[in-house]
Amino acid sequence: MQRIAIFASGSGSNAQKIIEHFHASKKVAIALVVCNKPGAGVITIAEQNNIPVLLIEKERFFRGDSYIKELAEHKIDFIVLAGFLWKIPAALIQAYPNHIINIHPALLPKYGGKGMYGQQVHQAVIDNHEKESGITIHYVDEQYDHGKTLLQVKCPVLKDDTSTTLALRIQSLEHEHYPKLIGELLLK
Ligand code: GAR
Repeated sequence: MQRIAIFASGSGSNAQKIIEHFHASKKVAIALVVCNKPGAGVITIAEQNNIPVLLIEKERFFRGDSYIKELAEHKIDFIVLAGFLWKIPAALIQAYPNHIINIHPALLPKYGGKGMYGQQVHQAVIDNHEKESGITIHYVDEQYDHGKTLLQVKCPVLKDDTSTTLALRIQSLEHEHYPKLIGELLLK
């Protein structure tokens, strides 16, 4: 059994899809949800699915042991970021080399980096009159939204799109592809 920790701090819609995808799996278990925001939607989703939640705080994450001890206690093999907006510290990357992936709601390397998340990403895409946007799933390294790309899927940006309508189109791509890619990566 491979044990995944999902790091998420938002509403948790991707976490929900990943949990559903592996619900009956005998090979992959969602063993932990790691969150830095008390009250985030993802915490309720974890609780509804009987998945333990580790609430983390900044000081220990960035200047302490990055919670590597707890991850080891939960026997975590692989880390999936799903709307987790803190940079991943070097110590954690070294503890999980090529075992941390992220999803970003745009076609990196454009529209990534610090502060680029949620509606801001989609608004920037629209403001620049891009004809297409999409999702990027990539390994995590020590820079924001950087590491080697695993998958990009594109969608059109329509003439009358708002950041909200574009966000919905991209969210459905995320939900379709992220759980599937995690399965392919872990089960190959
Ligand atoms: C997703 O759109 C994900 O791509 C984005 O946060 C959202 C989380 O939504 N991540 C980033 O922007 C990372 N730079 P969710 O809480 O509904 O899963």
